[in-house]
Amino acid sequence: MSTEAQTTADTAEQYRTSSAPATGKSIITLTDVTKTYVRGKEPLTVLDGLTLDIREGAFEALMGPSGSGKSTLLNLIAGLDRPSSGTAVVAGNDIGKMSDGELAKFRARHIGFIFQSYNLMPVLTALENVELPLLLTKLSSADRKKRAQTALRVVGLEDRMTHYPRQLSGGQEQRVAIARAIVHDPTILVCDEPTGDLDRKSADDILALLSKLNVEFKKTILMVTHDPAAAERATLTRHLDKGKLR
Ligand SMILES: Nc1ncnc2c1ncn2[C@@H]1O[C@H](COP(=O)(O)OP(=O)(O)OP(=O)(O)O)[C@@H](O)[C@H]1O
Ligand SMILES: [Mg+2]
Repeated sequence: MSTEAQTTADTAEQYRTSSAPATGKSIITLTDVTKTYVRGKEPLTVLDGLTLDIREGAFEALMGPSGSGKSTLLNLIAGLDRPSSGTAVVAGNDIGKMSDGELAKFRARHIGFIFQSYNLMPVLTALENVELPLLLTKLSSADRKKRAQTALRVVGLEDRMTHYPRQLSGGQEQRVAIARAIVHDPTILVCDEPTGDLDRKSADDILALLSKLNVEFKKTILMVTHDPAAAERATLTRHLDKGKLR
């Protein structure tokens, strides 16, 4: 086998091992979930009795007007926040019942988060940015570097590892952010408008990459988007309006 073929095989091996194939099993189950913020005296109900079931291996889009609660819903599923009532079970974990420490462990094991604005550290190279989430693990420095290199190869940036964010295009910065989101081999990718800041061509490249992560690496993906072309990439589109799914 050529070195290149071997590398690709290693890459596939590393990313396939711990995620289950699409089995039709539920991986995200929300039952009658509400989220209410209290601002001053006025409670504001942002999610209003959501019931939702997402299967392992799905690639779903979530659309809806600004302020309809899309990011709030993603944050709940990602274990960054808890429901006010109802239950949210994600990869077998009841989000509402976990302590902050347990939620942190849950996120480290199961969640990769991709943002609209990339959120890379400007003073770190692409490789160092991708390595960052692994600094809290017990992996050796050599293993961390190897995994970060593998993730950057998966997103097609093997020739940009020592570049700083300012030396990359927007599409390349988002690829680095995606490599960072997959470096710990999470079960679920949550993406909040991942193509919102990109031109059509770069957006299409990012969507193709997300499809590859779904099909080849069996990641379950939930993606908020305002872009109908992005939603078309998904296998199902849900619409949120004033905190309710329709
Ligand atoms: N921490 C918070 N405290 C109080 N209100 C909040 C908080 N987070 C969100 N909200 C409110 O909840 C509502 C929904 O916000 P959210 O960010 O989920 O909307 P969105 O659908 O993602 O909108 P956009 O498309 O503009 O990103 C908004 O009215 C917002 O002001
Ligand atoms: Mg939002």
